Amino acid sequence: MLAGRCRWCDGDAEVFLPYARLSLCRTHFKEYIVRRVRRTIEKYRMIKEGERVLVALSGGKDSLVLLHVLLAMKNSNDPKLSLNCDLEAVTLDLGIRGYSEKCVSVACAYCDEFNVPHYTVKLIELAGFTIDDMASQRRPACSVCGVVKRYVLNKVGVEMGFDRLAMGHNLDDEAAVLLSNYLSANVELLSRQHPVLPAREGMVSRIKPLFEVSESETSMYAQFQGLTPVDGKCPYAVTPSTHRFKRALNALEEEAPATKIKMVRGFIERVKPLLDNIETPPGKCAVCGYPSSSGICGFCRLKKAYGPM
Ligand code: FES
Ligand code: ZN
Ligand code: ZN
Repeated sequence: MLAGRCRWCDGDAEVFLPYARLSLCRTHFKEYIVRRVRRTIEKYRMIKEGERVLVALSGGKDSLVLLHVLLAMKNSNDPKLSLNCDLEAVTLDLGIRGYSEKCVSVACAYCDEFNVPHYTVKLIELAGFTIDDMASQRRPACSVCGVVKRYVLNKVGVEMGFDRLAMGHNLDDEAAVLLSNYLSANVELLSRQHPVLPAREGMVSRIKPLFEVSESETSMYAQFQGLTPVDGKCPYAVTPSTHRFKRALNALEEEAPATKIKMVRGFIERVKPLLDNIETPPGKCAVCGYPSSSGICGFCRLKKAYGPM
């Protein structure tokens, strides 16, 4: 469908959002997304006044959009939009030759431009190995890369005393994981699925402010705002298992707009409360002391296998 006129200013619309039956110009599309994320933050109490927020900035599209939206709120004079918090960013250098350098340089340039304090954490310095080292010795590095990222980002958040770790997951990611967990009836994982994970000993609170913004919306936002994410893909990337769930959900969304948001909100409001007593808090890793559901955490096991002798 053609976009027509912008509902908010009557200028030329560049976007049509079927689930809201809304046409918007470029400027008002940005405002619409910022307002929506602001409401999400408010509704789920993701960030409180004056908190220190660490944004996980991979250099990919979603993380750039997340920081851009949060900065728009921080710099806004509109009381409905403004967000009083301290924003900093961290990028993990995984040591993937030809790729990690590009991610770090995109993230550094972006934080320089927007004046955001930025840290780069090198996996080699923290663990004594890189993803390249792992990939040269074993099967798909991608399967363990998530363990490494979660562990290191959490550790940085905890050790630097941040109140929140903000991740760039969008609505499509959230809906696909939810569908996958439903289909496999994985009650344990379902019980942990929420856009706000509270802090506990050894864990910084993890938030997903973009979880009500779709992948196509983050793409349009990045394009309209001239954000240039890292060029190219990780050389170890394999098609994620959630890909087919995303395809199925896109087909449903096409037929019945708002399917994804209804599914995700419905889960949080009506299903998740029923699962709250299932979740068991993890114990501690015997080596590093960070939370772990088995005796030694996944990261320490990797360090033992691939780190220096
Ligand atoms: Fe982790 Fe590709 S980014 S293996
Ligand atoms: Zn407009
Ligand atoms: Zn450990």
